Amino acid sequence: MAETASAPARAPEGATEPVLRVEGLVRRYGDLTAVGDVSFTIAPGETYGLLGPNGAGKTTTISMVAGLLPADAGTVTLAGEPMGPRHPAARRHLGLVPQELAIYPDLTARENLRYFGRLQRLRGDQLRRRVDEVLELIGLADRANDATKEFSGGMKRRLNIGIGLLHQPLLLVLDEPTVGVDPQSRHAILESVAALSGEGMSVLYTTHYMEEAERLCDRVGIIDGGTLQAEGTRDELVRLTGGVDHVRVSGEGDLTTTAAALRELPAVQQVDADRQGLSLTVRDAPTAIAAIVTTATGAGMTLRDVEVSRPDLESVFLHLTGRALRD
Ligand SMILES: Nc1ncnc2c1ncn2[C@@H]1O[C@H](COP(=O)(O)OP(=O)(O)O)[C@@H](O)[C@H]1O
Ligand SMILES: [Mg+2]
Repeated sequence: MAETASAPARAPEGATEPVLRVEGLVRRYGDLTAVGDVSFTIAPGETYGLLGPNGAGKTTTISMVAGLLPADAGTVTLAGEPMGPRHPAARRHLGLVPQELAIYPDLTARENLRYFGRLQRLRGDQLRRRVDEVLELIGLADRANDATKEFSGGMKRRLNIGIGLLHQPLLLVLDEPTVGVDPQSRHAILESVAALSGEGMSVLYTTHYMEEAERLCDRVGIIDGGTLQAEGTRDELVRLTGGVDHVRVSGEGDLTTTAAALRELPAVQQVDADRQGLSLTVRDAPTAIAAIVTTATGAGMTLRDVEVSRPDLESVFLHLTGRALRD
């Protein structure tokens, strides 16, 4: 059972049904349970991240969400309709961006989009208009007529995203879209996803990069060994670690006296002195930092540097599983 980071939020006024409801999904391969009892929901306009290391069960989960892989147990409901290999109708609500590229290298970006748009039954003016819109959305309008074999890895990935967007799905599902791309392309991909989310699209995003989950996702499910270990906003998840921050105060002076003065501050839980300065354990460091600096200088310390480090999703993963996110 997932550790829930917060009490369920009360539904806001006029709240609608979730776009995606996943309940008790299970998938086994022989003796291996690739996905064991995974449940989560995605609200309209929400970006939900599945964060976990290689082999955690991310691709297996979204393959079931996308109706490509039968589940051994559990249900997927998309926009109120049942979804699965035997319920293909609901697939029109979903755009899937798989990890492998599915584009034709000899065709231009526009030709690729037109081809896949026709498969989505778009025709004529509607197709032309939608292809132009998507080219803008993915930032490839100025390269629309170039053969995609000339494209960088990141540009191909963006085209891959564009193909998933052609039929204007309610939910865009992306499986680790930045793996193996250069930093500039990664940035462009993250910008594209953030822009889509800004336009109200719901997004399901899998990654093993905690920076991406922190930057893009409204809520994150931490997945490991096929089960959700915890779920919540970044801040809710970080609170699971106990939520203490670390502050390093470097400088000269009477560090013993300064340490004693700092221990009097309500937010300060622990102070350790060494030759170069002080290491503090602090509740809510951003709020407490002004008082820490004032107290330290008031006790006669000359400050050289103050450094705040706060727990992140990497710390949360370590806290929950005892292992680092990346192998
Ligand atoms: N077709 C398959 N046959 C056997 N085992 C599989 C298959 N697909 C995935 N697995 C196993 O299921 C687990 C979850 O895999 P996957 O969902 O691909 O993880 P992730 O996408 O998080 O890296 C892994 O242990 C993987 O080896
Ligand atoms: Mg995967």
